[in-house]
Amino acid sequence: MGTWPIGSAWGPVKESEALAALRAALDSGVNFIDTADVYGDHASELLIAQALKERKAAGKTAPIVGTKIGRRLPEQRAALYTYANLAPFVDDSLKSLSVDALDLVLLHCPPTETYYRPDVFEAMDRLKREGKIRFHGVSVEKVEEGLKALEYPGVAAVQIVFNMFRQRPADLFFERARARQVAIIARVPLASGLLVGKFTSDTKFDASDHRQFNRHGEAFDVGETFAGVPYEMGLAAVEEIRPLVPAGATMAQMALRWILMHDAVSVVIPGAMNPDEAHMNIAAAALAPLSPETMAQIRSIYEKRIKPAVHQRW
Ligand SMILES: NC(=O)c1ccc[n+]([C@@H]2O[C@H](COP(=O)([O-])OP(=O)(O)OC[C@H]3O[C@@H](n4cnc5c(N)ncnc54)[C@H](OP(=O)(O)O)[C@@H]3O)[C@@H](O)[C@H]2O)c1
Repeated sequence: MGTWPIGSAWGPVKESEALAALRAALDSGVNFIDTADVYGDHASELLIAQALKERKAAGKTAPIVGTKIGRRLPEQRAALYTYANLAPFVDDSLKSLSVDALDLVLLHCPPTETYYRPDVFEAMDRLKREGKIRFHGVSVEKVEEGLKALEYPGVAAVQIVFNMFRQRPADLFFERARARQVAIIARVPLASGLLVGKFTSDTKFDASDHRQFNRHGEAFDVGETFAGVPYEMGLAAVEEIRPLVPAGATMAQMALRWILMHDAVSVVIPGAMNPDEAHMNIAAAALAPLSPETMAQIRSIYEKRIKPAVHQRW
């Protein structure tokens, strides 16, 4: 489960609803949660800590929690990704999540130059040696950044946007990551909800929702909002995909199952705002594999409608 939507930048979310979504996901068998220190200034981490505490008290298993650091630096410059600057972020997340060691810490979409600085990755190795983190990796914007990250032996996981509207990672990156036994975390699997098939040209988003305020990349990389697909273009492609949805499934479930068709993917992290969304998304894991014909049709819709706008950009 991805927890950006219950942390910040997705319009108002009630804390009780967010916690209920987490509980529902974990009780249904979700075993990996993605978060970040900046999702509501540790708000998402604190909610996760609450859910973990409840599970511990009830004798239930704990999920793996991956968090991300680096966006709280005063400026996004590679030279600032130092041990001295990063270590306090790790300490803060340890406190917020209320754990002795963080399962997984990813650098949170650092500037491209960061990937060319071995010292940054050595800083993460050091935090691992100190026992503060168990594994580290990077959340990348671009395929090329992911490929570069694979060169650092300490990198255990790469998080990347991958969905029916962002297919390039499957071309080369997956094969390379798999050869290196690096975990692939597929994010933005529903293209911020576009691939749910519920939006129209008239859909209104709250002013505090990035689907309103970052539609053209005004606040951060536009690739994080609707996977970088221009809204109307995405809506038109969704209408072509709609007839392909298997009987008894929703489009969101098909979108998630499409990702699971790629064996190199270790984990998919759909965001969910409430227990219903969490349950619906989990059910995708039980869907039958998509047929080769459906996979080919999805590829052809991507090639025709989406690829020119996104493929070479990330
Ligand atoms: N830079 C980074 O490292 C980075 C960037 C982006 C995301 N992430 C991580 O990746 C996770 C997943 O990406 P995302 O949350 O941005 O996008 P996403 O998973 O593609 O879309 C999530 C949104 O889709 C809607 N939705 C989800 N399930 C649904 C369902 N079953 N039925 C109807 N609507 C549903 C919800 O919004 P509404 O109900 O409001 O439509 C939800 O907030 C994030 O939560 C975060 O953990 C990381």
